[in-house]
Amino acid sequence: MSAADFLPLRGYDHVEFYVGNAKQAAHFYDKALGFKPVAKMGLETGCRDRASYVMQQGNVRFVLTSALTPDHEIARHCALHGDGVKVIALEVADVEAALREVKARGATVVQPTQAWEDQHGVLKTGVIRYAGDTVFKFVERRGYRGVFAPGYQPLAAQGRGGVGLAAIDHIVTNVHLGEMNYWSHWYEQVLGFSQLKHFTDADISTEYSALMSKVMENGSGKCKFPINEPAEGRKKSQIDEYLEWYQGPGVQHVALAVKDICATVRALREREIDFLRVPATYYEDLRDRIGRIDEDFDELRELGILVDRDEDGYLLQIFTQPVQDRPTLFFEVIERHGSRGFGVGNFKALFVSLEREQARRGNL
Ligand code: FE2
Repeated sequence: MSAADFLPLRGYDHVEFYVGNAKQAAHFYDKALGFKPVAKMGLETGCRDRASYVMQQGNVRFVLTSALTPDHEIARHCALHGDGVKVIALEVADVEAALREVKARGATVVQPTQAWEDQHGVLKTGVIRYAGDTVFKFVERRGYRGVFAPGYQPLAAQGRGGVGLAAIDHIVTNVHLGEMNYWSHWYEQVLGFSQLKHFTDADISTEYSALMSKVMENGSGKCKFPINEPAEGRKKSQIDEYLEWYQGPGVQHVALAVKDICATVRALREREIDFLRVPATYYEDLRDRIGRIDEDFDELRELGILVDRDEDGYLLQIFTQPVQDRPTLFFEVIERHGSRGFGVGNFKALFVSLEREQARRGNL
């Protein structure tokens, strides 16, 4: 590890989604995914051009934002990309220092350090460009005691109750063919991250399609960002499908860490969240491939949960279907038992399943 981490990150602060109808999205994130609505900004709070809902579960904080006026950057973003992730916000101790360091290393600053103030104190933010129209935002909270940020008012709603989503584990970006190395260098040079893993199309391929992936992680290991690019295959890969429907690079999935994946997935299934289904054959020799684990294999099969083992331990994971009509953003639920991997052993089984879904959409 480098002695001087020039961008010490405290962790993920929040993820902001630009959506067509934030009020209805908030209902879905509450009633189906178990997020509690904790704060709101909009007409009632004196904001005339946008509405935002802050949704919290465990340490996961999502912000859902819609435009209130027609010719608005948020409305244009939704028209082009559909619902999706706009902002990946990272907490830092000093926004000005963070921006100075990354700018000196080549970051494009979209919004210089800005101090937002209300009766609860001062919150500072700064924004830099990332892939496509996605941005990174640095957030400095030490001077702020309010519910989320100036302009937001707390909500009294109880919400339906959580399903055990505890923290953001990693956030994955899809980029065009040939751009993965550009962005992995960008993470290294601009943000001071290092490469944790590299998967080639030999690791991640099926009969029809392939992808390549590099995983970038910050100095403390708190923030992990895999980057995918499509590889040449006989048919269109799931990354190509994403790039076509998102109209360019962007966030493919947000992985959420849990402590009891069986309980979480059971609760989400009760709330009618749809997950990708792997072929039944996946479970036939799983016990032999994986060895001893704490969970019951029959329960994993019933719930459709995947298992992968590497030198450090094992992990359990499952992927939702896309959470909007375009085949773009989805979520992963992950429970780690020592493993620091991403389930590469599951990729092939998973992609057979993904391609079946792609074919149903007429996109293979
Ligand atoms: Fe993932």
